[in-house]
Amino acid sequence: MGLVDVSRLPKHVAIIMDGNGRWAQARGKPRTLGHERGADAVRATMRAARRLGIPALTLYAFSEQNWDRPEAEVNALVDLLCECLVSERNELVDNEIRLSAIGRLHKLPERAQSKLSALSSETESFTGMTLTLALSYGGREELVDAARALARRVRDAEIEPSDIDEAAIELELPSMDVGPVDLLVRTGGEQRISNFLLWSSAYAEFYFTDELWPDFDASSLYRALEEYQARERRFGLVPGTKTKPAVNESSDELERAI
Ligand code: FPP
Repeated sequence: MGLVDVSRLPKHVAIIMDGNGRWAQARGKPRTLGHERGADAVRATMRAARRLGIPALTLYAFSEQNWDRPEAEVNALVDLLCECLVSERNELVDNEIRLSAIGRLHKLPERAQSKLSALSSETESFTGMTLTLALSYGGREELVDAARALARRVRDAEIEPSDIDEAAIELELPSMDVGPVDLLVRTGGEQRISNFLLWSSAYAEFYFTDELWPDFDASSLYRALEEYQARERRFGLVPGTKTKPAVNESSDELERAI
């Protein structure tokens, strides 16, 4: 923590929480125990992010592709979600954390949907931090849904095709409610994005760690933040300038800007 500069925190941290199954298997335990320990890591990470003052934390809790896992594991994950939505209520309220959820939520069982919407409503005025759970979420699916919404608006003559620009698309992306991702963390040793926040991670810094998600805690988050702060974010520009490079700038410099 000592090395994290709280005046230069990312505004939005997103995490692909991977490695629950391997964590459990390495101990000869059922995968579901890994998910339970994963929920403890969620709590620790959420607390640490809130204490630091990170405005938005988005967690990949259940992907659209996760529905294809064995039914028993899917049920265990949904049960765990439901339990957490009850057990973490006070933590959210006491720390003024707003709960939000993105994804094809209508595919979740009714018991999960009702708990989610109740806690989201109860916390909607909080400004301490926004915790977004990506549930039944896929980045491509989110873009498909946005394209359909815009197509309907064109069909209904509300907008012209030429009105569709980046801003119009972003208005249709629930994941952009908390702005673009600054730091994307993935645990579990794999180095891929796995259909997570495709649009909002366009300029994110990526941080990969071999640590398995149940082992992730406040100090793991601090390490990720230290590395983030050691990087120079250029957004496609030339270092030390605020505007796009002039056309006559050397191709060497332009190359370095990408
Ligand atoms: C990936 O590990 C993790 C998941 C598919 C689920 C994430 C869920 C949690 C952290 C638990 C609870 C979260 C909330 C928000 C209540 P994996 O099973 O793919 O691990 P593996 O790659 O080792 O098999």
